[in-house]
Amino acid sequence: MTLHEILIRAGQEHWSTGHFNAGEFDHIRAIAEACKELGAPAIIGTSEGERKHMGSREIVAMRDALRLDLNIPIFLNADHHKSVEAAEEAADAGYDSVHIDLSAKPLEENIAGTREIVSYARAKNPGISVEGELGYLKGESKVQNEKIAVSAEDYTKPEDAARFVQETGIDRLAIVAGNIHGISLDEPDLDIERIRVIRNAVPENIALVLHAGSGIPDAQIRAAIEAGISNIHINTDMRVAYMQELRKSLAEHLDEVAMYKLDVSAIDAMKKVIKEKLVLFESVNKI
Ligand code: G3H
Ligand code: ZN
Repeated sequence: MTLHEILIRAGQEHWSTGHFNAGEFDHIRAIAEACKELGAPAIIGTSEGERKHMGSREIVAMRDALRLDLNIPIFLNADHHKSVEAAEEAADAGYDSVHIDLSAKPLEENIAGTREIVSYARAKNPGISVEGELGYLKGESKVQNEKIAVSAEDYTKPEDAARFVQETGIDRLAIVAGNIHGISLDEPDLDIERIRVIRNAVPENIALVLHAGSGIPDAQIRAAIEAGISNIHINTDMRVAYMQELRKSLAEHLDEVAMYKLDVSAIDAMKKVIKEKLVLFESVNKI
């Protein structure tokens, strides 16, 4: 089962895969185990910072070990890689997928750089999945104690999406339609109609990706999936659950110095969030 096949099947059947970020090796295992326990494909993302923190070769080795141990489809995505060079590093290391995010650049530069990565990554690994991004996605994966204003001006334009997909040759498109990275003070308000129009503007074999899934109310997530999203990124909700439990555990066990004993409840809290999302995405028992 390739990542591309899973994404297309999810789109046709109106469910979504979950993409979960990992910043530590324990998180990689937690994501894979939670997916195994619910029979869901595991898509594990590392940003440039997360990848550098753990080491590309080490991350890939852990994926390979977990595939043997758990016997489920496990895919690694180089998430939000903001330069051609960084995306190439991940493809060279053996990632299954790269997300080249040149959305901050003018459209022509975004198209040129994304196309360059598509051809580089496919030459390395014909089965690799490449994601591009269009639109201005605000925020970052943390709790933001402020309101973050979003405007329809920043959303992905359907006509740009059609051209971008055609000229770059990507497999997946990350779109902006009211989503904001992290958890902000005001509740996100997804533009479901915009998602539907973009879905109809690009070919069926292009998966639509919704980043910034944390903090979005469940009903909006379900509506986004019905409108054509088949991959949803989650990071902040997991980080918050993990850190809350870890802080509690550290405060309650002041004499304990073994980290692997102190973080058990934090890992459990992270797995609980992942499982709740998999249920919401209807990704359960799909492998
Ligand atoms: O690429 C990562 C995600 O878009 C995570 O967003 O922190 O809002 O869940 P989030
Ligand atoms: Zn993202």
